[in-house]
Amino acid sequence: MQLRSVDYNSVRGKYVLLRVDFNVQIENGKILDTFRIEQSMPTINKLRDAGARVALCAHLGRPGGVANPELSLRPVADYMKIPFVDDCLDKKILAGMRDSDVVLLENVRFYAGEEENDVGFAGALARGFDLFVNDAFAVSHRAAASTVGVTKILPAFAGELLKSEVENISRLLENPRRPLTAIVGGAKVSGKIGVLKTLCKLADTVIVGGAIGTTFNYACGARVGNSLYEPDMADVAREIMKIADAHGCKFLMPIDKGVGEKFEKSAVRINKTLDEIAEGDVIIDDGPMTATRNIAEIEKSATVIWNGTFGMAEWGAVWGESSFRVARAIAVQTKSGRLVSVVGGGETVAAVDAAGVRDDITFVSTGGGAFLEFIENGTLPAIEILTL
Ligand code: 3PG
Repeated sequence: MQLRSVDYNSVRGKYVLLRVDFNVQIENGKILDTFRIEQSMPTINKLRDAGARVALCAHLGRPGGVANPELSLRPVADYMKIPFVDDCLDKKILAGMRDSDVVLLENVRFYAGEEENDVGFAGALARGFDLFVNDAFAVSHRAAASTVGVTKILPAFAGELLKSEVENISRLLENPRRPLTAIVGGAKVSGKIGVLKTLCKLADTVIVGGAIGTTFNYACGARVGNSLYEPDMADVAREIMKIADAHGCKFLMPIDKGVGEKFEKSAVRINKTLDEIAEGDVIIDDGPMTATRNIAEIEKSATVIWNGTFGMAEWGAVWGESSFRVARAIAVQTKSGRLVSVVGGGETVAAVDAAGVRDDITFVSTGGGAFLEFIENGTLPAIEILTL
């Protein structure tokens, strides 16, 4: 996929509306993970070095079209040490900007027209700018005014992060080094039906884990105790397994579990095979035999795509055991040059971080939903519009 690139030689003095994804977790004014911000810096710096006048446009959370001080992007401007514009439609700031200045506009979702992709709102947002650059891969699955609407008004281009995400993920979809193993964990099959179907057609092996794995176990008649799973997704799970079968894709689900007496961090962990699971057991992690089996698959793979953890990795070592073991195995194989690894999704990236191996992964996507939808469809609405 070829995207329209910015000609950095022609942007001096030009007003650039740069869409970024700064949808980061902020607690008491402190940004918990600056990854998305850091990943936007190459485009910001290139535009700044080229003398453009850049207004960063972003969203935070889901304010539903209403201004909400708790979802203000001001902490991000403070962190970046750049001026903050407390209304994304305020154009007064533009007049005072000089070449290479960069400002951050307030949360664009404070206006209902953003998510509605309203033409009038897109026009108001675009007014005063010479060109639009999209570097917000993580929100490119949303056809909003600031991702799609403005491209109908301004000359529109892809930023460096957007290009890198598209290149790295497209390579996996179009020409992966094989064997290709896809690992899908997380809570709900219902949120990943499309991507699971695509992966069963594409990959040599699909491994499911976490609560998603439990739903597949249930669909195959296993006991799941008092755990999180989706009984009404059993038919869909069986359909997905049929697709894998029809495409010669090996499909693997958990073979044992880490269970507790309650769904709490303080629960005492006992590892059980599926047959041993009792009615009151609460599955909180995949078991150690499953992790060992998954690691053996990773060691046989040339490419691994991973989205979704297998347990409550955010609760630390006890309930994150299988996610951390898999993260470390992927990192070891990648570091040795035997594996190309691509990881996406907030919780998965957090688990990779907690395991201390982010730098050893070939490519860490900034996308969550966008990562999954791009794998499913090979494109996204706000990217499609920038193709040559
Ligand atoms: C994300 O965090 O995945 C993106 O910023 C999209 O956010 P949304 O799901 O609220 O549209």
